[in-house]
Amino acid sequence: MVLHKNRCTVATLFILALFFLSIFFYLFFFAAYTTTFNPPLSHHTDLYIQVHPSPLHSPPSPPPPQQPPPPPPPQQPPPPPQSSSTITAIQPHSPIATASHHESVSVTDTNKVDNAIPPFEDCDLYTGTWVEDQNYPIYQPGSCPYVDEAYDCKVNGRNDTHYTKWRWKPHDCDLPRFSAKDFLVRLKGKRLMLIGDSMNRNQFESILCILREGLHDKSKMYEIHGHKITKGRGYFVFKFVDYDCTVEFVRSHFLVREGVRINAHGSSNPTLSIDRIDKTSGRWKRADILVFNTGHWWAHGKTARGINYYKEGDYLYPKFDGAEAYRRAIKTWAEWIDNNINPKKQIVYYRGYSSAHFRGGDWDSGGSCNGETEPVFNGSILNNYPLKMKIVEEVIQGMKVPVKLLNVTRLTNFRKDGHPSVYGKTIMAGKKVSTRRQDCSHWCLPGVPDAWNELIYATLVLQQTNSRN
Ligand SMILES: *[C@@H]1O[C@H](CO)[C@@H](O)[C@H](O)[C@H]1NC(C)=O
Ligand SMILES: *[C@@H]1O[C@H](CO)[C@@H](O)[C@H](O)[C@H]1NC(C)=O
Ligand SMILES: *[C@@H]1O[C@H](CO)[C@@H](O)[C@H](O)[C@H]1NC(C)=O
Repeated sequence: MVLHKNRCTVATLFILALFFLSIFFYLFFFAAYTTTFNPPLSHHTDLYIQVHPSPLHSPPSPPPPQQPPPPPPPQQPPPPPQSSSTITAIQPHSPIATASHHESVSVTDTNKVDNAIPPFEDCDLYTGTWVEDQNYPIYQPGSCPYVDEAYDCKVNGRNDTHYTKWRWKPHDCDLPRFSAKDFLVRLKGKRLMLIGDSMNRNQFESILCILREGLHDKSKMYEIHGHKITKGRGYFVFKFVDYDCTVEFVRSHFLVREGVRINAHGSSNPTLSIDRIDKTSGRWKRADILVFNTGHWWAHGKTARGINYYKEGDYLYPKFDGAEAYRRAIKTWAEWIDNNINPKKQIVYYRGYSSAHFRGGDWDSGGSCNGETEPVFNGSILNNYPLKMKIVEEVIQGMKVPVKLLNVTRLTNFRKDGHPSVYGKTIMAGKKVSTRRQDCSHWCLPGVPDAWNELIYATLVLQQTNSRN
């Protein structure tokens, strides 16, 4: 009996040993496999951009009539399978893990390149075209309370809606399926701040509206001071209660410091100190994700002429070149970023120039864009890339902190149909629409800035960014 029992124990021990050995070998080879062939775990793929071969840099073509079924569901899309668990499972080593992505021009040794997801590095998200997609827009025209009058085209009387039905499609890959809920999960505990001019307020309102679609209970977001968005106010903080995150806007037209001087006749004139960061910069520091822009104001009279306007130190230049002033201002901004931003904890975007589409004049001289209901798909306008953008690219290449360029200029070039034109303010019943002053610079919402925010989402997904880890 004892002998038999012992024999049993030996057999059991043997089987157990075999069992543990096989587990050991399995784990060993699995680990070897995953580190070597990172990361083709199939359940991750729908979080990744799908890369497929397609002619590189072929000219943008009109959308094919029979598009494959478009991915993004319009309203409150369910989070992608295993979204949060997958996010934590594939943490990057640093928040800016894929610093080698060719949009982030500066790689420092503090940001080890994580080349775990090779295909996406080859995909230029900004070379592509617009395709028609009946699942768009992400929120219905007139439905979002955070769109201010200037961009609320539908409510202001714009009848056509085709301009809301386009999705940006990079040539070499698909953007990840947009999910407002997953976007919120990725923002959990963070402060996202947009800093810039009214074009950034345009983008800010867009991001509030698309994130709002991820909330079951829409009252679970609010401006913490109760402010309504108007162009008169320069600071807004929206809190998303269930995600403990905020989305903020800080107005800063130039990113550098505006001032006034009293001229010889006793009247006050504006000045711009291109060597000093803007007064609002104290607020910038506290954000986790920052999205900057400055551009359109540099084309306005005073700034473009540069007479008794630009300052360095106490010196007021009697005349100064606008492009050089822009370069110095961007350098001032870059220096501030390098000295105040921790790339291990914070992410910095610069959103590229957004194109205007004025026919027959400029914004202040009778230019118009009314009646445009279709994008342009060919012609030289698509290749416009302003000198200011080349300056920005040059400056950010020399920075210590990597800055992600949201290179949206080209995608805006197509969209002559997306501007408010005459629908930038409410049209009174029975009143004839004035076509004299049109807004062909900003964008109707829903509309083009939604795509910029989808691109922010795409880059976050791409980098598996979650700076809390
Ligand atoms: C709106 O559409 C209707 C017909 O669909 C048209 O008669 C009307 O002029 C349009 N209004 C404006 C402001 O474009
Ligand atoms: C541009 O595209 C339109 C159709 O989308 C076509 O009718 C037109 O001929 C094209 N123009 C040029 C210059 O290719
Ligand atoms: C940004 O896009 C333009 C085309 O619109 C391109 O010429 C430029 O090289 C791009 N910049 C980067 C950094 O990819």
